[in-house]
Amino acid sequence: MKPVITNDILYIGTDDTTIDLFESQYPVPEGVSYNSYLILDEKITVMDTVDARGTEDWLSNLKEGLNGKSPDYLVISHLEPDHAANIATLAEMYPDMKLIGNTKTFSMLPQFFHKDFSTRQVVVKEGDTLSLGKHTLQFFMAPMVHWPEVMVTYEQSEKILFSADGFGKFGALVNDDPEDWACEARRYYFNIVGKYGVQVQALLKKAATLDISVICPLHGPVLRENLGYYIGLYDTWSSYKAEKSGVVIAYASIHGNTKKAAEKLAEMVEAKGEKVELCDVSRTMVSELIESAFEYDRMILAAATYDAGIFSPMEDFIHHLQAKGFKNRKIGLMENGSWGPMAAKKMREELETLKDITFVDPVVTIKSSMSEEDIPQMEALAAAICEK
Ligand code: FEO
Repeated sequence: MKPVITNDILYIGTDDTTIDLFESQYPVPEGVSYNSYLILDEKITVMDTVDARGTEDWLSNLKEGLNGKSPDYLVISHLEPDHAANIATLAEMYPDMKLIGNTKTFSMLPQFFHKDFSTRQVVVKEGDTLSLGKHTLQFFMAPMVHWPEVMVTYEQSEKILFSADGFGKFGALVNDDPEDWACEARRYYFNIVGKYGVQVQALLKKAATLDISVICPLHGPVLRENLGYYIGLYDTWSSYKAEKSGVVIAYASIHGNTKKAAEKLAEMVEAKGEKVELCDVSRTMVSELIESAFEYDRMILAAATYDAGIFSPMEDFIHHLQAKGFKNRKIGLMENGSWGPMAAKKMREELETLKDITFVDPVVTIKSSMSEEDIPQMEALAAAICEK
């Protein structure tokens, strides 16, 4: 069932339940929604279009909502093609419709469509308002959340924030579990917006000045109750604070010996009363690993040595941590190597490029497979990671 926003504001977005990889990189087993909204007033306004994969469904929803009328405006919050793919289609269907965006929107728009929309564009800047009749839109710039042209729109009469990708979530609406917003919203946030915490904080400061009763994001459910919960999580996430106390133990094991050592280490940490999330880096999607790394306050990376370096699944995970601006955490290291263990040294070199990382000693070195002699070092690492 489509979300109901208000009498005059309709949901016209579309679910995508057949996509394999969002952005050609993120598995979305529950699909994704491309949200779009229609404001019916003296001036009829479409709030963003949808991905090309949803064109047919979206046009059908749009026509049903318009009921024979024509839109006066299209507000372009974000030019990424999962929302903007149908701008030219809509503009051609309704030649009198104006396009609303900011200077960055209109500098990038021709790159996507190679068409001249210059006579139809309405350029807005921070705080500008646009009256539609009963409704008034106010625009706030949100640069680099997570593209430079992003802006959010606040509808003053019904107190609705159209939040672009902010407060978005993986998962088609048909599969939405209202009891568990955070899981897939967190994976979405850290993988797509995570690098831009400073910019999200700036946007939250602007949002704090508004009286918001409904948040309409471009992905996932419309949020209308307990908004402090969602805004609070965004504040935690964007300030790089850990959401939970606990230790992620992420291991990359070639033949299972590093895995056995990681499992033993997990037992030791759990025995000290700590929550442990044990992850097989080779078999867990990297976007889940990124989510877990940011979710908890501590992490131990355990990797085999391979080609005199880090076993590549772990190396790949670390590169993703670097790309997402991972920081402000405690990290311990465990390595395995049969003749020349190098993984810990190499992991540390990579992790030292991150900000505000505290390394926890000792580094544990396993030679081929865990032995009784390794237990004291592992116990020492478990104790050190649990020290507050
Ligand atoms: Fe949902 Fe940045 O596009």
